[in-house]
Amino acid sequence: MATMLILGAASDIARATALAFACEGWDLIVAGRKEEILQKIAADISLRSGRTVKTAHFDALKPEEHAVFWRDIEEETSALFCAIGFLGEQERAQHDFGHAETILRTNFTGLTPILSLAANTFERRGRGLIIAVSSVAGDRGRASNYLYGSAKAGLTAFLSGLRNRLATKGVTVITVKPGFVATAMTAGMNLPTRLTATPQQVAADIVKAVKKKRNVVYSRWFWRSIMMIIGHIPECMFKRLKL
Ligand SMILES: NC(=O)c1ccc[n+]([C@@H]2O[C@H](COP(=O)([O-])OP(=O)(O)OC[C@H]3O[C@@H](n4cnc5c(N)ncnc54)[C@H](OP(=O)(O)O)[C@@H]3O)[C@@H](O)[C@H]2O)c1
Repeated sequence: MATMLILGAASDIARATALAFACEGWDLIVAGRKEEILQKIAADISLRSGRTVKTAHFDALKPEEHAVFWRDIEEETSALFCAIGFLGEQERAQHDFGHAETILRTNFTGLTPILSLAANTFERRGRGLIIAVSSVAGDRGRASNYLYGSAKAGLTAFLSGLRNRLATKGVTVITVKPGFVATAMTAGMNLPTRLTATPQQVAADIVKAVKKKRNVVYSRWFWRSIMMIIGHIPECMFKRLKL
């Protein structure tokens, strides 16, 4: 099997997913900002799966570096999994527009160059796989996290367009929409236990989605119904809810 690029590889969801894909037979390039952590992750996954795992430096907030980054790994890479994300602080972002911009760039516009570079290569080859982690937060804006949610909504729409563009070109594009997941991002939050997934459960959902060639996967599965209900609440009622 070929090589998958994992972006945001130090993320809890990415680590679990990378291991799951390595156990399926993929070699990996684990990329992110923290070289020391990436080295440990690579060694651990390689030991547990027996696959080749390399590391690479990638920062979503440095788009000027993305073309060179992609050029260096393009030939060996046949799939991309992106888990980069940044929750930020909603209240701070309402006044600190630099912080708001970091949320928007990390979750959306900072990812579109590398997703486009991979898409263009895979389209030319007539085969490839792109998986990116968006969020249920992108399905409807809420007062408590609408900067993050609007960035994820942008990413979801971008992936939908990419899928539409590449549908007849042999390239699969999968959008992953987790609900609550117990990770570093949500550490310290009081999440409802029964609605909260582990990174390993999300990873298993993603591997299954690839096998079944799904377009959009909610993880856990019940979030599809939850978001359908939330999506159907009339705006006149929704705007009075504290969500
Ligand atoms: N946890 C949840 O409840 C939940 C729910 C829905 C969706 N998600 C999404 O799931 C994905 C994975 O998140 P997680 O829960 O596993 O949280 P996490 O452990 O905090 O992962 C976030 C990852 O994004 C990386 N990142 C942030 N800014 C970056 C940048 N400028 N360039 C490169 N990498 C950057 C971080 O790298 P560093 O280590 O270098 O900071 C980290 O590896 C994210 O897209 C998140 O939005 C999470």
